[in-house]
Amino acid sequence: MVSLYTSVKALPLLVAGALATASLPTKPADLTTPVQQRIAVHGPNTISIGWNTYEKLDRPCVQYGLSRFALFERACSTSSITYPTSRTWANSVALTGLFPATTYYYKIVSSNSTVEQFFSPRMPGDKTPFAMNAIIDLGVYGADGYTIQMDMSKRDTIPFISPSMNHTTISRLAETINDYEFIIHPGDMGYADDWGMVPADIDDSQNAYQAILEQFFDQLAPIAGRKPYMASPGNHESACQEPVGDCPNGQRNFTDFMTRFGNTLPTAFESTSHNFEAKVNANKAKLLAKPPFWYSFEYGMVHVTMLDTETDFADAPDIPGGPSGLDSGPFGAPNQQLQFLEADLAAVDRKITPWVIVAGHRPWYSTGGPGCLPCQAAFEGLFYKYGVDLAVFGHVHNSQRFMPVFNSTADPAGMNNPKAPMYIVAGGAGNIEGLSDVGSNLSFNAFAYADDYSYPTIKFLDPNNMQIDFFRSSTGELLDRSKLYKAHKHQFTVQ
Ligand SMILES: *[C@@H]1O[C@H](CO)[C@@H](O)[C@H](O)[C@H]1NC(C)=O
Ligand SMILES: *[C@@H]1O[C@H](CO)[C@@H](O)[C@H](O)[C@H]1NC(C)=O
Ligand SMILES: *[C@@H]1O[C@H](CO)[C@@H](O)[C@H](O)[C@H]1NC(C)=O
Ligand SMILES: *[C@@H]1O[C@H](CO)[C@@H](O)[C@H](O)[C@H]1NC(C)=O
Ligand SMILES: *[C@@H]1O[C@H](CO)[C@@H](O)[C@H](O)[C@H]1NC(C)=O
Repeated sequence: MVSLYTSVKALPLLVAGALATASLPTKPADLTTPVQQRIAVHGPNTISIGWNTYEKLDRPCVQYGLSRFALFERACSTSSITYPTSRTWANSVALTGLFPATTYYYKIVSSNSTVEQFFSPRMPGDKTPFAMNAIIDLGVYGADGYTIQMDMSKRDTIPFISPSMNHTTISRLAETINDYEFIIHPGDMGYADDWGMVPADIDDSQNAYQAILEQFFDQLAPIAGRKPYMASPGNHESACQEPVGDCPNGQRNFTDFMTRFGNTLPTAFESTSHNFEAKVNANKAKLLAKPPFWYSFEYGMVHVTMLDTETDFADAPDIPGGPSGLDSGPFGAPNQQLQFLEADLAAVDRKITPWVIVAGHRPWYSTGGPGCLPCQAAFEGLFYKYGVDLAVFGHVHNSQRFMPVFNSTADPAGMNNPKAPMYIVAGGAGNIEGLSDVGSNLSFNAFAYADDYSYPTIKFLDPNNMQIDFFRSSTGELLDRSKLYKAHKHQFTVQ
């Protein structure tokens, strides 16, 4: 957000003469040790396993199976990639042909790794209720990030979270690990580009940026290594400093984000619809998808489309010469992202996946001032036309919920079968910049909270009912509950 610009410029004056030490994590003696694990839904029966190592692997491999003691399957790849200024290599392997909705155990092949577990994706069309979490604007904790006090007794040990960890949202995600099946994180992950806000890092920008990335993805690993972690870009993934400043080349233009997630996130899926046009559109969407920037996946009764609000549409904020000064992209051909979105939404067969959720970083509906108007101009019409049920954004550091709305006018049906999408802002997960005031109101706002870190759980109850619960991360207190009813009468929605 904007305040950072002044912080970066002001800090060197405060710390003139201070000794710089970026807190790079200690390299393990065994360089094959997996770090920064993250998994993702990669296809209808496929989970991808991503992890980093402090050396290049010739042949990254994962063993897996239905019991912790019978890891008889093995999948390998040759994908071990890095970029200048990174100390680590990003490895990825796809586990294909999995039984749906089944607990698997896996071990990244290394002389120093442990057995982890995941739940394989539900088949598109499985109408079993489930929940997903939306976490945006998360941030690193500890000396390089934001730390807050919390009650030690509330800390969960499964999966293991380091006792020094004071990040209430990651702790809550660990404590409730059995209550949700995957996480979406559209943008602003570790805030490594905020290294300038930590006085100790000020003279060592190149290492400070890498140190925060390494720490953050280590901190996230207990969650992201067990639950599919579906990411898309935010402004803080763009470069090592905002505006771009003197970042070395390896730290510009979403390089770490692409290296880390480019091979683990999916393209659009093949359609399982019997409708010919749906198959054609799904195939078109598959060709136009550009993971990790824009892509979609299906999971049970939900179709989720992840978007890039930073580059790749008219007047996008992070493009060369754009208002954020981030000098990034484009990543596709002109209009590719919007053509993808249209083909992708047109392909959704509501008999298979009645719910359609779209997620991106920058909102256009937000309390406290105007949101991203070029984003609204690019995307809102398509959301409405194809009957998107819920749009999830962040960027503004708090939690907000809006009544279904189109073109800044509330849908008269409210939460009872509206034609317009419902919108939420889920940017209150926690980061070094702190929370944003709720600020000025919009008439169709129904809830806004900025007193502590918080996040929403989105529950798909059945093909017609969805429930959103916002929780306070530090206590688990329920802050807001809403239910959306959608008839989903038509196999294909075009309005
Ligand atoms: C093995 O991995 C653990 C954590 O995963 C790490 O703390 C330890 O240093 C590693 N051991 C060696 C010999 O690299
Ligand atoms: C985390 O919280 C505990 C207990 O509130 C405190 O003692 C510790 O210093 C905190 N750690 C960090 C890194 O802030
Ligand atoms: C960013 O990367 C993309 C893809 O690698 C490239 O096409 C584009 O020109 C780059 N943009 C800038 C500003 O360097
Ligand atoms: C949006 O609302 C404005 C007036 O508030 C109107 O001029 C415009 O035509 C509307 N656009 C659409 C797509 O309905
Ligand atoms: C904004 O206004 C609406 C309608 O008057 C109200 O329901 C809502 O609580 C308000 N939100 C805030 C954050 O004040």
